[in-house]
Amino acid sequence: METRIYKIDDCTVCHDKICQAAEIIQQEELVAFPTETVYGLGADAKNPKAAAKIYAAKGRPSDNPLIVHIAGFEDLFQIVETLPEQAKVLADKFWPGPLTMIFKKNQNIPYETTGGLDTVAVRMPNHPVALALIRESGCMIAAPSANASGRPSPTLAEHVKEDLEGKIPLILDGGEVGIGIESTIIDLTEEIPMILRPGYITKEMLERVIGTVKIDPGILQQDSLARPKAPGMKYRHYAPKAELMIVDGDRADVIEKINALTAEMQACGRRVGVIGTDETKIYYRGDLVLSIGSRADEDVIAKHLYKILREFDAGNVNVIYSECFHTPNIGQAIMNRLLKAAGHHVLIAKGNQGETKIV
Ligand code: TXA
Ligand code: MG
Repeated sequence: METRIYKIDDCTVCHDKICQAAEIIQQEELVAFPTETVYGLGADAKNPKAAAKIYAAKGRPSDNPLIVHIAGFEDLFQIVETLPEQAKVLADKFWPGPLTMIFKKNQNIPYETTGGLDTVAVRMPNHPVALALIRESGCMIAAPSANASGRPSPTLAEHVKEDLEGKIPLILDGGEVGIGIESTIIDLTEEIPMILRPGYITKEMLERVIGTVKIDPGILQQDSLARPKAPGMKYRHYAPKAELMIVDGDRADVIEKINALTAEMQACGRRVGVIGTDETKIYYRGDLVLSIGSRADEDVIAKHLYKILREFDAGNVNVIYSECFHTPNIGQAIMNRLLKAAGHHVLIAKGNQGETKIV
């Protein structure tokens, strides 16, 4: 199949392209489109055959449910069985935006869309192209991130092309996304609302609006006893091809440790990648040293994470060492994704000593 790519700078000027994309959705086919978090791979959420095509194109396990994207709060009434009162309060504050809420579903949403679950994940994206596509198609759009299963989520249309060219008919290219990490997921079917995936909207931001919120214990630790409630969180997503190890500690210790490890690896003929920051990049001696941005700007760190992991795949390194990014707000989401990419391998740097731990 030929994959067309339409550049959309302005939805009004590009109205005919949005109309073509909407028609493709109505015809049971797939369209990749930008959202403010990452690119999504969309299909008509109420059509089981269309939803099934998403799993085939991505190579996604069929038990991993999709997020349904809507363009108005009232759309929820069509697809949920019960609407908890927190939903309206959260929507007023955070929609359109990077927050996904989980509800009990009704029969209008097929099990193909929810991976067999009786609940449905819903969000209203804050991106003009995404909203225009939903409105023009007259459909609710089921969309996971538009990467091949197991690859980092796409933050540029080029990433979607890398993974899905030949498998889908159309990519809408809206340039680089704004946030770069997938939405926060909150489960409102629990008695106390529970975060199933951390994102740009933090626990504190949610608690200011609806009171106590829990975090799914299954996502905090690499602990086989606690199984994540969001099926997608159990897969080792976001994994670069090379082995990735995170080095934590004081800045000078981390630089020293990474350089010592780099020298050891290079002596064995291995190519080393390093994820540093604008402040530390010049100190590293790896073969491919990339800055994720300035440590002072956590939004930029979040935005560059997936792009950087893809650059290492293209750069043919055998091993990657990364600094830690426990930044104040979106830091929990950044570290959640980085730890998964690293299979939770963290090395604590202390002077020239070091200790490995699995967290
Ligand atoms: O920012 C985002 O959320 C992006 C953009 C495209 O909207 N989408 C996204 O979708 O990240 P995806 O499929 O890559 O991740 C969806 C996550 C998965 O971990 C899935 O298991 C979980 O949401 N999920 C979906 N429906 C669920 C449900 N009913 N119960 C529990 N987890 C659910
Ligand atoms: Mg994904």
